[in-house]
Amino acid sequence: MTDLISSPRQPATVSTGRVNIQTFGCQMNEYDSELVGSILGQNGYSLTPEETDADVILFNTCAIRETAHLRIYSRLGALVAEKQSRDDLIVGVLGCMAQNLKEDLLLKFPSVDFICGPDAYRQLPELIGRARGMRQRGAAVELSEYETYEDIAPTRVDGVNAWIAVMRGCDNFCTFCVVPYTRGRERSRDPKGIVEETRRLAAQGYRQVTLLGQNVNSYQYDGTSFADLMLAVAEVDGIERVRFTSPHPKDFPRPLLEAIAGSERLCSHIHLPLQAGATRVLKKMNRDYTRDEFLRLAELIRETIPGVSLTSDIICGFPTETDAEFTETEDVMRAVEFDSAFIFKYSERQGTIAEKLWEDDVPDAVKSERVTHLVAVQKDISLKHHQATVGKTVRVLIEGESRKNSAEWRARTYGNAIVVFADPSRRVGDFCDVQIKEATPHTLRGIPC
Ligand code: SAH
Ligand code: SF4
Ligand code: F3S
Repeated sequence: MTDLISSPRQPATVSTGRVNIQTFGCQMNEYDSELVGSILGQNGYSLTPEETDADVILFNTCAIRETAHLRIYSRLGALVAEKQSRDDLIVGVLGCMAQNLKEDLLLKFPSVDFICGPDAYRQLPELIGRARGMRQRGAAVELSEYETYEDIAPTRVDGVNAWIAVMRGCDNFCTFCVVPYTRGRERSRDPKGIVEETRRLAAQGYRQVTLLGQNVNSYQYDGTSFADLMLAVAEVDGIERVRFTSPHPKDFPRPLLEAIAGSERLCSHIHLPLQAGATRVLKKMNRDYTRDEFLRLAELIRETIPGVSLTSDIICGFPTETDAEFTETEDVMRAVEFDSAFIFKYSERQGTIAEKLWEDDVPDAVKSERVTHLVAVQKDISLKHHQATVGKTVRVLIEGESRKNSAEWRARTYGNAIVVFADPSRRVGDFCDVQIKEATPHTLRGIPC
C-alpha cells in the first residue's frame, strides 16, 4: 500500500488551477464543499461550475446507502476515458465515501488521484499540488476529535439560506448507520464564533440560517445548550428565520421546545426521524426510545409548538423486521401524521454493528414493497395537511425559481412547506404573503396578496 500512497506532509507544489466541486449527500456535505472552496481559494485556486472547464474535479461523496456509492462509481467509471484524453486532469474523492472505503478506493479506481476524508480538508492544497506537480497519488483520511474548521469562512453560493455547521460527528452508533465511522466523534463549536458568523451573514444580506450537525441537538459547549445557541443566533439583527437539521429524538428537552415555541424567528419545523415503529426493532437499531416514548414526544411537541411541521426518516426492512413490526411503523406514521417523510430501504453498510451481528435477511422485494406502501401512506397524509391550508395566507421566503417553470417562484413557509407562485415584481430572497389556492402532496400553489 505504501508505494501507492504518499502521505501529504511535505510542502505542496504551489499552483493555480480551476476546480469543479460536485456535491452528493446531505446538507453537511453542501457546507463542507463551501469550506473546501474557501480553503482552495486561499491557495490560489478558482472554482468553476463546469466539469469540462476544470483542471481538478472533486467529488464530495456520501456513504449512507449503497445507492450513494453506486452513483459515484458510475461517475468515476465515466471519467476513465476522459482522463486518458486529458493527461493533466486531476480527480479527487472527498467526504464520507472516501473516509469509509479509504485506500480501497484508490486500488479500485485508477482514475482517482487522491482521497480526502471530512476532517482532512486542510490537506487538500497539498494533495492537489502533489498530484499535479509530481503525479503522486495520495490519501488523507485521519479523523480528528477537534477539527471544526472554526477559522475558515465558507465560500457560500446560495444567497438566501446560509448553512452553519455548529457541531460535527456522531457518537450515537445507531446499528445501521455508517456516519459515526465516516464523521468521527461528536464535537461542538464555540457559540461565540457561531454568533459572530451569523452577524457577518446578516450583514451580507442573508435572512435565514440553518444550523447543521449530524446530531445537531446534542450540541453542547461549556454549559451552552442547543436551546441557548438557537436563541443566541435568533437574536442577531437581520436574521428572520433559523432552522436546524438533523436532530435526534433523544435530545428534545422541554426548554428547547419552549425556545422554538417562544421565538418568532425559530421556525416551527422539527425533523423527527422515527426509523421504525416497533420497540423491538428500535432497540436493535440502538435508537434509545421506544414506540410509546416517540409517540409521547410527538404529542408533547405538538402541544408545545402549535402548528408545528413534523417530518421524518423511516427505514424499511431492517434485519429481522417482521410484517407485524412493519405494520407498527405504519401505525406510528398514521398516529403522528408527519407532514412529509423520507422512506428508505435498509442498506447494509460495511463496518456497522448491524453488518457485523445480523444477516441482511429481509428480501429486497419485501423491502421495496414496504417502501412503496409507506410512500403511498405518507402521500395521503401530506395531501390532507396541504389541503387544510387552501384558502389561508402564508408568509414565504423565495428560495429560487420553480424547477418546472422558471416564470414561477419556489418559496418556503415558516413550517417547511414548498409554495409555488408567480410574481414578477419579487426577487429571490424576498419575504411575501401568498394565499394558497391549490394543494398537491409535495407542493402548494398560491397567488401573491
Ligand atoms: N443524524 C441523522 C441521520 C442522518 S442519515 C439522524 O439520526 O436522524 C439520514 C437518514 O438516512 C437516517 O435518518 C436514516 O433514515 C437513513 N439511513 C441511515 N443509514 C441507513 C442505512 N444503512 N440504510 C437505509 N437508510 C439509512
Ligand atoms: Fe447515524 Fe444514528 Fe448518528 Fe443519525 S444519530 S448519524 S442515524 S448514528
Ligand atoms: Fe452521507 Fe456523510 Fe451526510 S454518509 S448523509 S454525506 S454525513
